Amino acid sequence: MIAIGSDHGGYELKREIIQYLEKKEIPVLDCGCYSPDAVDYPDIAVKVCDKVTGGECELGILICGTGIGISMAANKMHGIRAALCHSTFDGRMARMHNNANVLCLGGRTTGVSIALDIVDAFVGAEFEGGRHEKRVGKIMSIEE
Ligand code: RB5
Repeated sequence: MIAIGSDHGGYELKREIIQYLEKKEIPVLDCGCYSPDAVDYPDIAVKVCDKVTGGECELGILICGTGIGISMAANKMHGIRAALCHSTFDGRMARMHNNANVLCLGGRTTGVSIALDIVDAFVGAEFEGGRHEKRVGKIMSIEE
């Protein structure tokens, strides 16, 4: 299951991504927002990240206007490694090297087709472990 959430700046892209994932029969949990009315992106980041750290969802996707604010908020949450991605290479590497568990996108900076490709790359890739294990471990130890 993938938890997904956006503020108003990512609302339209969130709808596209949900539709896309549902077509591929990938279960999605929509954590809001549920209309284009303005909301504060940190509130949405917390909702999605709670689903990931709580184990209800394996991965999360967060979208705001630029992806910047919502990735900053997500990375304040314990256990979260959120990656703001602008390319499929970013999306793949975020999983393979950084074991990212949340993908962040900008609804005002990344077009729908590219965003859907990034989602595919992120969801389809796996953490390589090995030499990256120690480095990701060091990231996580900063939380302690
Ligand atoms: C909202 O207008 C906008 O600031 C937000 O979506 C995001 O881009 C912040 O980083």
